[in-house]
Amino acid sequence: MNRYFNPVQTICGKNALSELPSLLSEIIPPDGRVLLITWNESTAQLETFVQIRDAFHVQCVCFNESNPTVEQLFELYRKTAEFSPEVVVAVGGGSVMDVGKSLCCFYGKSIASADEMRCMISEKSYGGPKAKWIGVPTTSGTGSEVTCWATIWDPTQNVKRSVESRENYAYAAVVDPNLTKSMPLSLAVSSALDAAAHAVEAYWANGSNAVSKALALGAVRTIMTHIDGLLEGDESAYESMAQGSMIAGMAFSNTKTTACHSISYPLTMHFHIPHGTAVSMLLAPVMKINAGKVQDMELLLEALGADSCEMLSVRIKDILKRAGIPCTLSEWNVEEESLPMLAAQGLTPGRADNNPVSITKEKIEEILRSIYR
Ligand SMILES: [Fe+2]
Repeated sequence: MNRYFNPVQTICGKNALSELPSLLSEIIPPDGRVLLITWNESTAQLETFVQIRDAFHVQCVCFNESNPTVEQLFELYRKTAEFSPEVVVAVGGGSVMDVGKSLCCFYGKSIASADEMRCMISEKSYGGPKAKWIGVPTTSGTGSEVTCWATIWDPTQNVKRSVESRENYAYAAVVDPNLTKSMPLSLAVSSALDAAAHAVEAYWANGSNAVSKALALGAVRTIMTHIDGLLEGDESAYESMAQGSMIAGMAFSNTKTTACHSISYPLTMHFHIPHGTAVSMLLAPVMKINAGKVQDMELLLEALGADSCEMLSVRIKDILKRAGIPCTLSEWNVEEESLPMLAAQGLTPGRADNNPVSITKEKIEEILRSIYR
């Protein structure tokens, strides 16, 4: 199906954040209710957010957990349901935006416990959103500001859940590279490689389409051309990463991801390998098994700045090392005996079956062994 849909208006570039008050005025009256979610309290003190607090009725909350769980999402719902915001402004990385957009689906419903919320998520019975949301990323990687799904983890049941609704795309994405400059280098690089993986996987996904492919090539080229600048401390690279990450998000908003993401989730859940790092370690070996099934593979390799999967593998390891990030599973303290379990859990429904070449747990174990040392 060669169909593409994404209704998110995007405001991207230096000082884009200053547009936020006028965006809110388009949606709500002066006394409208805004929930402002930030990673830390100091972000909420930025001038634009002070203006918003002066102009609207605002509840501020901090959410500083990576890989949000059902329990954490419920706790945030419990704190904010009575306020019942008309707009949620989520300012942060993927975790903050994922909880922000998820909350929109739960307001207006009476939910008494985390277990009840867990059931609603697994049965997808939350229905359409009651509030609108605006995504303001402070990392450049997840693309969550332009997708209609959110990842919510459920470690008690060893699963990754998804809150998703086609009606829950953001009203707008405000992508201001100034907000991303305080990221530590390892996070900036890991996030950029996550975005590159989103684009690569959008390109070869079974569910791909002409628009996603074009966006994917543009995003990959932008990220991989400027990632050396990021490693060398070039300030302008942050703008390129912000733009590349958002465009990668638009590419995979319609295709979802494939084997790299599928295999990465248990690595993050059990061994806390940061998401972008885990995904990037899998990019070259998955590309190797997919190679024969990807149309116009040479265009993708050219955008990646590599002439083969082997060269891509060397390039990614070099990037990770220069950022001070371990680049093998053994360096991440993954026990070799865990590989069969990780392989068995790497077949994530909706991701593994979206890969152009079908993967089995035996194939995944082989891939994991190839990045072990
Ligand atoms: Fe990702």
